[in-house]
Amino acid sequence: MDEKTKKQIERRRTFAIISHPDAGKTTLTEKLLLYGGAIQSAGSVKGKQSDKHAVSDWMELEKQRGISVTSSVMQFEYEGYCINILDTPGHQDFSEDTYRTLMAADSAVMVIDAAKGIEPQTRKLFKVCAMRGIPIFTFINKMDHETRDPFELMDELETEFGIETFPMNWPVGSGVTFSGIYDRNRGKVLTYESRHAGRSRLASIDIDINDEAALTEAIGADLKAELDFNRELLDGAGSEFDLDKVHHGKLTPVFFGSALNNFGVEQFLESFLKLTTAPLPRKSGEGEEIDPFDDRFSAFVFKIQANMNKAHRDRISFLRICSGRFERGKEYFHVQGNKALRLSQPQQMMAQERDVIDEAFAGDIIGVFDPGIFSIGDTVCEIGQKVAFSGIPSFAPEHFAVIEQVDSMKRKQFAKGMNQIAQEGAIQIFFAPGGGMEKVTVGVVGVLQFDVLKFRMQSEYGVEYLRQDIPHELIRRVGNPNFNAADWNLAGDTRWVQDVRGNNLLIFNGQWTIQWAENKNPDLILTEFNQRL
Ligand code: G4P
Repeated sequence: MDEKTKKQIERRRTFAIISHPDAGKTTLTEKLLLYGGAIQSAGSVKGKQSDKHAVSDWMELEKQRGISVTSSVMQFEYEGYCINILDTPGHQDFSEDTYRTLMAADSAVMVIDAAKGIEPQTRKLFKVCAMRGIPIFTFINKMDHETRDPFELMDELETEFGIETFPMNWPVGSGVTFSGIYDRNRGKVLTYESRHAGRSRLASIDIDINDEAALTEAIGADLKAELDFNRELLDGAGSEFDLDKVHHGKLTPVFFGSALNNFGVEQFLESFLKLTTAPLPRKSGEGEEIDPFDDRFSAFVFKIQANMNKAHRDRISFLRICSGRFERGKEYFHVQGNKALRLSQPQQMMAQERDVIDEAFAGDIIGVFDPGIFSIGDTVCEIGQKVAFSGIPSFAPEHFAVIEQVDSMKRKQFAKGMNQIAQEGAIQIFFAPGGGMEKVTVGVVGVLQFDVLKFRMQSEYGVEYLRQDIPHELIRRVGNPNFNAADWNLAGDTRWVQDVRGNNLLIFNGQWTIQWAENKNPDLILTEFNQRL
């Protein structure tokens, strides 16, 4: 590999920001973008309550509901690094999208609300990071508010997640007494000047930890004594810092701060960029490791988004480049389609803005115009290379509805819309055995996805449909060849469906009906859904 390409890859940092809704993910992202000069003013990512949406929110629906439905990608430069931030939707009904996005990241920043600690969504997301062994950095946010005890928060991370923690800084006071953070590495206290109590905001100052007099004056004798005590505890009790453990997701560096007040954010960013990794190798389906510094280009599709720009009615596939250098106009190979192709209009994203690019490197995310050829998980590589990355797992749907087209004049649009949205991985379509597209069973992971479906079918495809929810919540694959439900003793409300490839599945409305099926039919082979897309 030539030196220039190697340097470009080395300076890439690609990470996802994850959190339970409201912990401060959007606010932190915005502050990071400000440092990179990627946006000009605070509030560009998210405005005030009345106009609560982020730059990263594309869809109308998101704006209307004030939730971030889809993930987006933002690239910016900071001190020689080229940073790709993958934003993830906060709402749990879209977790699947977040899980896929995590597949494209080399590390994750987990934002935690200091008053709340670990929340349900944090727990779920952490599990996925742990499964992939990707480095996790923790930002404990909202230190300007009343918080839980920082030691207790550390303890919670360690016991709940089974991960070691290493505080990179330590808060001095909290809530109304919050006075700064002690940077353990630099041996300095950065003071926090509150905007409350009528005081105008003063510039924070950096005080050497050994400058007793200046420190006492800045934070007061009580907080100084508390800090001395805590420092001793930290030095005596905590884990050793071990970068190798960080890189394998076994130890999380922890930072305290306040995203809203932009306090501790720059220190976090600088430290994070040094500690996190350049693009990591990826495993192919055969278990072979693909080195990012391999000269040959390879990438996989982790996200598909249709109609991002209504005026263009386009569909964009997002690819994470795993190795080498991408060149615009060059022919590559689409493994699953078994075809050579040129990726048209390759773009890099800054939320709504897109730039057509001539080249990109391992670690980068590019969006390409997709006339409907890609599916989630597909690989694109050099011609003649034939690598295929291991698939992205799809989650078992937990909510089902029967959806029937109502306007026979719009049969084509209905089929097109449903199929495209399914290809994006937002819904899963099942058919009655031998049945067609006019009446299908749709499965989703979160019920809000039904709202998104309705909205998109109306606004993008001009189609109305009838939806009837069914109380089923569990789906299993059937392993028996030539399966026909009529030959088996199944509870009356068990539904037999097939996927697009003709595989047989059963949908149950509770655990007990699965047990019934298993008890009555010892030869029936039921397996978990867990499909690879
Ligand atoms: P999310 O993306 O994780 O869902 O969280 P988001 O950044 O939207 O933040 C959730 C709320 O928490 C916002 O308030 C935000 O201003 C606030 N917040 C974020 N960081 C801090 C912090 O460091 N300290 C304090 N005190 N609050 C913080 P909101 O009232 O819901 O929205 P807004 O009117 O401020 O936009």
